[in-house]
Amino acid sequence: MAVVEVRDMVKTYNSVHAVDGVSFTVEKGAVFGLLGPNGAGKTTIIESLVGLRRPDSGTLSVLGHDPVRSPTPVREKVGVQLQVTSLFPRIRVVEALSLFAALYPRTQDPDGLLKRVGLEGKRRAAAQSLSGGEKQRLALALALINDPELVFLDEPSAGVDPLGRRAIWEIIRELQSAGKTVFLTTHLMDEAEKLCDEVLFLDRGKCVAKGPPGELISRREAENLDDLYVKLMQGSGA
Ligand SMILES: Nc1ncnc2c1ncn2[C@@H]1O[C@H](COP(=O)(O)OP(=O)(O)OP(=O)(O)O)[C@@H](O)[C@H]1O
Ligand SMILES: [Mg+2]
Repeated sequence: MAVVEVRDMVKTYNSVHAVDGVSFTVEKGAVFGLLGPNGAGKTTIIESLVGLRRPDSGTLSVLGHDPVRSPTPVREKVGVQLQVTSLFPRIRVVEALSLFAALYPRTQDPDGLLKRVGLEGKRRAAAQSLSGGEKQRLALALALINDPELVFLDEPSAGVDPLGRRAIWEIIRELQSAGKTVFLTTHLMDEAEKLCDEVLFLDRGKCVAKGPPGELISRREAENLDDLYVKLMQGSGA
């Protein structure tokens, strides 16, 4: 069963073709990775799928709903970690989680989540005072507060140390074991190779390859996803 369906999505900003006719589906229970260089259109796709941007044309379906026309059912069942999270400057970590929890009918225990992301020692800290990697961990905890069916993570490991990254990978695997679907973007090819059942490479708004990492690697005679990335981006003239 497809939980995300994108058909012929187009999004243009003035003269920039941010997303230029992209189609794909994500199956329930999968870990799906959207990969590609800076400016390829990854964040534009994620933000459109969660109803924050409106595509110029094409159709989007998230858990059977149009995210722009039916935002409420989508928001209740979906978790989102945006590339940049803005919070009230003086809010404390535990208060941010409680505030987000108040927005949903179904929630997880804030302290349990803080422990899962390794922030239990920071519950009373001002969110603004957190380090870059700690802010990413808090953003992940906030994305999971409503125990979502489907989680969008826009570069969850950016700025996170290797131990923190392992903890995030563990959380993603646990989500998958619990039957949830994870949609992530990353620039870390080993992360994509280890976690994703399926990846889509995007370059300047267009899909340049998609499929299970192992299949793409063998089809293109690449050593690993890093090698494939370089081949694809050089091949497409980037
Ligand atoms: N609000 C906006 N106004 C104008 N142009 C925009 C806007 N948002 C994105 N763009 C442009 O659209 C293109 C795609 O941007 P997007 O943020 O989706 O890329 P990305 O793949 O997420 O990149 P990164 O890896 O750097 O996060 C870029 O060329 C960007 O400059
Ligand atoms: Mg981005």
